[in-house]
Amino acid sequence: MSTQIIRPARTLQGSLTVPGDKSISHRYAMLAGLAEGTSRFANFSTGADPHSSLACMEALGAAVVHQGTGPAATIEVTGVAGAFRQPSAPLDCGNSGSTMRMLAGLIAPHPHTFTLLGDHSLTLRPMERIRKPLNEMGAIIDLVDGHAPIAIHGGPLHAIDFTTPIPSAQVKTAVLFAGLQADGTTCLSERIRTRDHSEHALKAFGATLRRTGEKLCIPGGQKLKAIDATVPGDISSAAFFLCAALLFPDANLVLDSLGMNPTRAALLDVITALGGRIKVLNVEEHHGELIGTIQVNRGLTPTAGPFTISGALTAQVIDELPVLAAIAPYTANGLIIRDAQELRVKESDRIALVAKNLRAMGAELTEHPDGLEIPGDQSLHGASIDSGSDHRIAMAFAIAALRAEGDTEIQGAEAAQISFPDFFTSLDALAHR
Ligand code: S3P
Repeated sequence: MSTQIIRPARTLQGSLTVPGDKSISHRYAMLAGLAEGTSRFANFSTGADPHSSLACMEALGAAVVHQGTGPAATIEVTGVAGAFRQPSAPLDCGNSGSTMRMLAGLIAPHPHTFTLLGDHSLTLRPMERIRKPLNEMGAIIDLVDGHAPIAIHGGPLHAIDFTTPIPSAQVKTAVLFAGLQADGTTCLSERIRTRDHSEHALKAFGATLRRTGEKLCIPGGQKLKAIDATVPGDISSAAFFLCAALLFPDANLVLDSLGMNPTRAALLDVITALGGRIKVLNVEEHHGELIGTIQVNRGLTPTAGPFTISGALTAQVIDELPVLAAIAPYTANGLIIRDAQELRVKESDRIALVAKNLRAMGAELTEHPDGLEIPGDQSLHGASIDSGSDHRIAMAFAIAALRAEGDTEIQGAEAAQISFPDFFTSLDALAHR
């Protein structure tokens, strides 16, 4: 386990390009693996998680070639043209819930037996949510007490009409990926709309998808064709720096090639509500995804009481909640987070770990089963932080450390590799001390 010492900063200034979006990279890797032809991706995520998806594609018969290094690196995936092979070993999903859940839907229609496993944290995460709809479609799926390892006895599937019981883009994607290859037209309704990268990616690879009101329908028996694409920068990785910019009156950051898909960009409204000023400098569209350059600095102090994140907004900023909570004590009026019980079953129990680490830094807060209430205008001190081997906790508290009194030790800092391997180097480059 590695430790990073974070010293307080005076301000943050400069420009930054964050890694390619993790969610989009997973989807591109999987759909390219299934498609016919060779797909080429620029700015594919450097995080370990999407590379777990690529490794699974290789085990299923796709060819993956890494070309070049640094910003010019590309990844080529030659797909199996619709027919995955029987893998010779279990499919290792590492720490990645997205890999495990979305892959289950992608491979279930194939006439093989698959075992999906992962690390300790992934083995604790709920999998019944994907077993149920895939089982309704005709796949036989065995879990161990609701968890991985997952055994999938694949074969021809039939269409279903499904309503997702919890807001989850991973569950939605598992059903869409299975529906794409099933007999008949699969329809899906979401009570709370989640990120729509799968919808855009499926269309980019040539699939037909229809939305009628709240219902999303995908005809089965479709074939995919390879694409060339540039993955937009990950707004969930940018979130650490957007939050850091709120901490210093003269902070000024420019983030380029940033993904600004509206189902992810609610974060920008939250940053503004907490006292940030965001200027969108330009926006373009690639394969249905918006990519832009933004500038962020601190604006006027908000006058209202604590800002509340609840209901649909909670689902839209679910991955950014740890860092928003970690900087909440420094905001003028504090933050209330509710309806976030899903945070307890992410890579760690993020509600419990945020509460524990904020308290270690001297913050006052109230923990609820589904969230946190964190008063603003508090001063924190450096402390030893338990990342729980969770990438977003490690990075969130490196940001909180910038305004603390004294140094902070992030235990288990290597977890950042999961989504943002250059995080600590980028932070060092932008922080003025
Ligand atoms: C993701 C969806 C979310 C999110 C995860 C990535 C995706 O999970 O927390 O980091 O790429 O679809 P859920 O689907 O469990 O809400």
